Amino acid sequence: MAVFPAAASVHPPRFLMNIVLKDLTKIFPKSSRNKSPVTAVDNFNIEIPDGKLVGLLGPSGCGKSTALNLISGLEKPTHGRIFFGGTDVTDLPPERRGVGMVFQNYALYPHLSVLQNILFPMQNLKGKERPSKEEMIARAEEAARLVQISELMDRRPGELSGGQQQRVAIARAIVKKPGVLLLDEPLSNLDARLRLQTREEIRRIQNETKITTVFVTHDQEEAMSISDLIILMESGVLNQVGKPQDVYDYPANMFVSKFLGTPPINIFKGTVKDGTVYIGDVPAAHTDSGFEGEAAVGIRPEGFIPDRNGILSCGLSRVEVMGRDTSIVFTHPQAESGSGRAIVSSESLSEVSGTTVCFSLKSSKIHVFDPVTGVKIETRPG
Ligand SMILES: Nc1ncnc2c1ncn2[C@@H]1O[C@H](COP(=O)(O)OP(=O)(O)O)[C@@H](O)[C@H]1O
Ligand SMILES: [Mg+2]
Repeated sequence: MAVFPAAASVHPPRFLMNIVLKDLTKIFPKSSRNKSPVTAVDNFNIEIPDGKLVGLLGPSGCGKSTALNLISGLEKPTHGRIFFGGTDVTDLPPERRGVGMVFQNYALYPHLSVLQNILFPMQNLKGKERPSKEEMIARAEEAARLVQISELMDRRPGELSGGQQQRVAIARAIVKKPGVLLLDEPLSNLDARLRLQTREEIRRIQNETKITTVFVTHDQEEAMSISDLIILMESGVLNQVGKPQDVYDYPANMFVSKFLGTPPINIFKGTVKDGTVYIGDVPAAHTDSGFEGEAAVGIRPEGFIPDRNGILSCGLSRVEVMGRDTSIVFTHPQAESGSGRAIVSSESLSEVSGTTVCFSLKSSKIHVFDPVTGVKIETRPG
């Protein structure tokens, strides 16, 4: 007879599940908080694939927490449906959805030990769902092992560092073996070094558990470094969904191109005439789109190559050498705010002297947009 191992494992989760959002919308009515109704989530149609870590990214106030709260069930949608693994969960309360949640402020019980905090969600289970005491402890110990806090089980939250408290919160969120893990800006309260370390931990934990995870952040670098897939939103509106590198390399619009990348993309006032995109009288790109007239020409900092014979002539403000990076701060009359920044190789500095600097441009680093709508204008190398 086959003997099955004790079901103490928190990974893999009971079942992997994708998340599908269909026409999902949340409108908050006019209130003391909002002078007029706010569409915090505007008609989202997304599939979040199972077993992946997805970064939900956007500026503060754009609706990230609202979107996450709709997925968890803490908020009810104005309309639209939510499916977990093909099952419509829209009308289920949070506790029936099988989600684990982690918030910015940990939300641990201060008077309970680490072990008791991790046990807490299981102790709330009723009837058949409630594991035996031994199994609860085995699961809590395994969750603690996974987040590497086994030696802290007897401490109270007040006796832990911020990073350790966040690990406890993660252990508590995964101990019920959720099909979906939702993290709302979980690293915001940590200092820079701990933030880096803890985000790598979250990546490792997700890799090991394979729980479908949605990670909310306003920090583009954090989202780029941790996510399998990025969902970028602005003012309630979905802008782009894609792999981090793809969203960076092929931004769907000007907002996306500006939101991703440090230093940010340089935007120049340009024009399109007969299929050629000009900055001033310099032909920077070509387009078959049929678009004519004023355009916004974005060039990533790494798209500039110092070159005495380069086509784009700029004023040289200064050269900054910071660790591995060398950047050239330049001025140009067509540049937004009059100046810009290029990241160049230190060898190329031999091409730089005097008060002007000429650049040749990498066509793959140039993105052209309709200046009014921000929509991308497709270009081709010239
Ligand atoms: N409970 C609420 N009642 C009214 N308005 C809200 C509520 N929650 C969020 N909002 C509004 O919805 C918008 C999005 O908020 P939120 O989802 O918290 O953004 P984010 O998490 O991206 O910072 C904001 O304009 C905010 O004021
Ligand atoms: Mg938020």
